[in-house]
Amino acid sequence: MKKYFLILIIIFMIVTVGCSKNSNLENKNPFCEFSYYKKELLQRYINYKAKNSSLSEEDVVTQVNIGLDQPHYTNTKRTPFLNKIYILSNKYFYMDSDYVPDDLEQINSLYSNGNRLLVHEARIQFEQMAKDAKNQGYTIRAMSGYRSYQYQENLYNRYVTEDGVTSADTYSARPGFSEHQTGLVVDIDNNSSIYTSFGDTKEFQWMMDNAYKYGFILRYPKGKETITGYTYEAWHYRYVGKEIAGQMRKENLTFDEYYMRYLDI
Ligand code: DAL
Ligand code: ZN
Repeated sequence: MKKYFLILIIIFMIVTVGCSKNSNLENKNPFCEFSYYKKELLQRYINYKAKNSSLSEEDVVTQVNIGLDQPHYTNTKRTPFLNKIYILSNKYFYMDSDYVPDDLEQINSLYSNGNRLLVHEARIQFEQMAKDAKNQGYTIRAMSGYRSYQYQENLYNRYVTEDGVTSADTYSARPGFSEHQTGLVVDIDNNSSIYTSFGDTKEFQWMMDNAYKYGFILRYPKGKETITGYTYEAWHYRYVGKEIAGQMRKENLTFDEYYMRYLDI
């Protein structure tokens, strides 16, 4: 009887205490060795691992922290780091309808197809990148930048009317959830082929080799659709700054994953 009581206590401690550094139960909980482990999510880690047994514990914790064990747009949270280059926007983190980033500036018309806006720091880096590309024989042109909540609402509603919600959700963000509202994103083309074919251009290859040096990352890569929640977009680049862009590249992480491991404090 005493023995069973002890076993019950141990199970209770794994679930409630989890990974307390003073606990000698640490080895029994495979999720708690990660600094971004959240003990209140333990049951969700266990359930997610059961459904996705090939995932490492590290990926289980990261993906549950993103919210991926639950359907898109459930348990949504207001994103915390407004006006920071590491603001997160995805299908679980949103901006209010009246959020407009500070310091929006117009991109030099040499490198855009009209009135396109970015936050100051991202604009400076984008223009430098486009200029350096041009000097090497590549054309990088911004064809979408900052988009307001209301603009995104019209865009998304149009796609829903044309395509239905399920399809629209694979390629268009709902209002408040679009990274374009952060003012840190550009959609680009090479001023000759349609932007949806950007992945087939030499400019795309140049971006893959160089964008991180200017602090830009490919936000919705091929093969990471289940993490980002969006189909592959060869044309959509997010400014995160050189340090984060370099680290993300080294570790082959999407921004959602990087954020949960290093920024979600
Ligand atoms: N196409 C991207 C996901 C957006 O709508 O923000
Ligand atoms: Zn985009």
